[in-house]
Amino acid sequence: MAATAHPLATDAALTILKQGGSAADAAIAATFTISVVEPFSAGIGGGGFAMHFSSSTSQMEALDFREVAPQAATRSMYLDGQGAVVPERAVDGWLSVAVPGTVAGLKALHAKHGKLPWARLLQPAIRAADAGFAVSDHYLESVQWRRAALEADPEAARIFLAPQQRGDRLVQPELASTLRAIATNADAFQRGRIARAIVAEMGTHGGLITAQDLDAYRPTWREPLCGPYRDITLCTMPPPSSGGVHLLQMIRLLDDGIATNALKSAGWHDDAALHRLIESMRIAYADRAVWLGDPAFVDVPVTALTSPAYAALRRKEIDPAHARTSKDVKAGTPEQLGLPAGPPVPPMKAVRDVPHTSHLTVVDKDRNAVSLTFTVNYGFGSGVVVKGTGILLNDEMDDFAAAPGVPNSYGLVGGEANSVAPGKIPLSSMTPLIATRGGRFFMTAGAPGGSTIITTTLQTVLHVVDYDMDAQAAVSAPRLHQQWVPEATRVEVNGLDTGTRRALEKRGHVFKDSGNGWGNAMCIVEGDDGVLQGGADPRGDGKAAGL
Ligand code: GLY
Repeated sequence: MAATAHPLATDAALTILKQGGSAADAAIAATFTISVVEPFSAGIGGGGFAMHFSSSTSQMEALDFREVAPQAATRSMYLDGQGAVVPERAVDGWLSVAVPGTVAGLKALHAKHGKLPWARLLQPAIRAADAGFAVSDHYLESVQWRRAALEADPEAARIFLAPQQRGDRLVQPELASTLRAIATNADAFQRGRIARAIVAEMGTHGGLITAQDLDAYRPTWREPLCGPYRDITLCTMPPPSSGGVHLLQMIRLLDDGIATNALKSAGWHDDAALHRLIESMRIAYADRAVWLGDPAFVDVPVTALTSPAYAALRRKEIDPAHARTSKDVKAGTPEQLGLPAGPPVPPMKAVRDVPHTSHLTVVDKDRNAVSLTFTVNYGFGSGVVVKGTGILLNDEMDDFAAAPGVPNSYGLVGGEANSVAPGKIPLSSMTPLIATRGGRFFMTAGAPGGSTIITTTLQTVLHVVDYDMDAQAAVSAPRLHQQWVPEATRVEVNGLDTGTRRALEKRGHVFKDSGNGWGNAMCIVEGDDGVLQGGADPRGDGKAAGL
């Protein structure tokens, strides 16, 4: 079973599974294909995270192939002479690019869990780049939104502005040639002709990435972050993702045997339970702003933040009758977390909405599983294409806190822990998740959507575990999102019935209607009958299919 954000990527995964490939092989083929057919979301010019479950050993692993800041990056690189943030510098163009990790990450995944030859896994992506594919409305909407950034780079404009209407074909011969080189030699991205082209691109336009940066990049296998919920174990990404920490923290805040049982029996119609859900999100995102960063640079109190004891302490602050305003909700203090004195809580600012990134998941016949989220960050990343290679580069530097307390493009504020430094990994929200029951595969989940990724993934799990939804219903169901700053809780059209919404508003909750919603969640669940179910979010163009 495979579920990805594009039918061609799902088909690529199934082709590889049919040839006897492992879940890892199929996920690699799908990841390269998404890099071709969903360039506005994710690609080989970006980075990501993957969870892997081996059914024969019940081993869970977490692979970090997130981008890193170039060695020449500085703390003040996004500030003007007066110390004010120049936001577009971290979002558009050459200075916003961090050292990409996707190809190195896929190579590491293949080395450990691949069965088929590497070169074969790139064939579907090469075909899609050579033959082209019909663009969707989502593609055109993303172009519209990022037109200015794409127009600023003639190479990006030539390639991505060519399709004018739905159904026009996007053909990428330079990218096909780059993928052929990578198929022949997985190191071709980091060394040799392609690497030289990236460095030349940077040199010409004031970007920072050097040949040494590319050569030195290494993905990291990390200890997955796991925690119990009812009779299952949820495993997801540790820092430098904030996703795992806060998903488990929210589960702990909810899981007092009262809120979760109310959610289970009344679902989205129990205002008391939804009140708890929203207030749990508010606390988690307040902590995110202060405590999370690259663990190689800061001590992230992962155990404390996800502990039942801390959840019990913070739960006491939640007024069962009334919503709190975000300014009344603070990040946990060092005392509450059992730590020495910590950094200050940053001030709150307004938000901008932008979803992108891509999630995909594959489970093979042996129930080995991959849950993988990757990204170029903002739509079409930095808007820069490396001349002659077709590689669209990320703008992941925007996931750093350019200055403590100033929100990034997702409206997320961050503190010292997530300040820019050479070789540092910007904090992410990507939350690829695999859950097991009794050591056996149970489900995968994950989503794109910047700051909303963590709450979308959480709600997908709740929909399966507590409301007994199948995989497709779980990714389709309406969502809420609260991220501490701004104050309002986002809600999708028809996301709450009128009575429940009124009851929540009476408690003081403020809602912002978010039209047709956000996210593009993917999920695979093993049903009680032992059959795999796949779910692809109807908000996107994706497809779930099995053999
Ligand atoms: N670039 C979005 C994230 O990593 O959370």
